[in-house]
Amino acid sequence: MPRRKVSIIGAGNVGATAAYYIAEKVIADIVMVDVVEGLTQAKALDFLHAGPMRRYDVSIRGTCQFSEIEDSDVVVITAGLPRKPGMDRMDLLKVNADIVKSASKSIAKYAPNSTVIVVSNPLDVMCHVAFRTTGFAVQRVIGMAGILDATRFRYFVAEELGCALTDVHAMVLGGHGDQMVPLPRFTTVAGIPITQMLEKSIIDRMVDRTRKGGAEIVAYLKTGSAYYAPAASVAEMVEAVITDRKTLAPCAVYVRGEYGIENLFIGLPVILGKNGVERIVELDLEKEELALLHESANAVRKGVEELKSFFAVH
Ligand code: NAI
Ligand code: 2OP
Repeated sequence: MPRRKVSIIGAGNVGATAAYYIAEKVIADIVMVDVVEGLTQAKALDFLHAGPMRRYDVSIRGTCQFSEIEDSDVVVITAGLPRKPGMDRMDLLKVNADIVKSASKSIAKYAPNSTVIVVSNPLDVMCHVAFRTTGFAVQRVIGMAGILDATRFRYFVAEELGCALTDVHAMVLGGHGDQMVPLPRFTTVAGIPITQMLEKSIIDRMVDRTRKGGAEIVAYLKTGSAYYAPAASVAEMVEAVITDRKTLAPCAVYVRGEYGIENLFIGLPVILGKNGVERIVELDLEKEELALLHESANAVRKGVEELKSFFAVH
């Protein structure tokens, strides 16, 4: 069987770190594309130099030529500006829409059979840009955010309870913004909902910290945003698609009526496999949880409305 190929457009902090994680897990051959001359070539060579010790026997190429993404199985879009202190994700809207649109045109041209994983912010709106521009089937355009928000929630729960990180599973729905919807009823430790283990006030504090998880890191970093956990989240999604793992995780997906939401990218639990989004899982949400999800969806829809002019294909 030929080796699988993953291309990453934008080899900055998230893109290059994702490439590293993908190489370490020997998931696929990797191509990194960036507009900055020399950046991807340097990073690719540096990764390859580490290969004999880190034991990854994959091909890693760095280039400025978008044509080199040809025949990729998965293309990740991490091109764009990251958030700076005081900046809302929506501030990035217009500048990143242009970048994501041009990356999506290249994907449609050179990798028409790929599955696209969008990372650039504001995430849910950028998924719309990629979806409209590529013209790909809804199953093959997926946004990375819920896995990241959930892993942050998982960490906070494990820290609070002093339990193994890997025993904690969390569910975070909605848009990747301050109105995301962490779901304590569906967040468990070895199968036990945290609502049976922790007081409401403690859970509320963790929910709030999860919503502000990205901003907490931006405030420390000052010149950019988080990238280790985002890159690990990208690698999880890439691995699920490449290896047809049928992973159940929250991702931004195009919704056509599920949860009472129409024609919008929003974070929901999905099964990820070789066909991209293989199923949207419908949870039995309580009235209040559903109301929060709809509020979050309304915030995403506002961003989409602002960008309407971008959505004409090509
Ligand atoms: P970064 O600034 O380190 O890297 C971005 C890279 O994109 C740079 O190397 C830049 O040269 C490149 N680039 C810009 N325009 C390009 C184009 N037209 N084609 C190819 N490459 C291009 O930023 P970082 O930290 O890697 O973040 C990337 C994006 O991901 C940002 O928009 C950030 O907000 C977003 N992000 C989203 C997360 C999520 O949960 N969805 C989590 C973390 C970051
Ligand atoms: C994060 O959540 C900035 O969206 C990015 O870290």
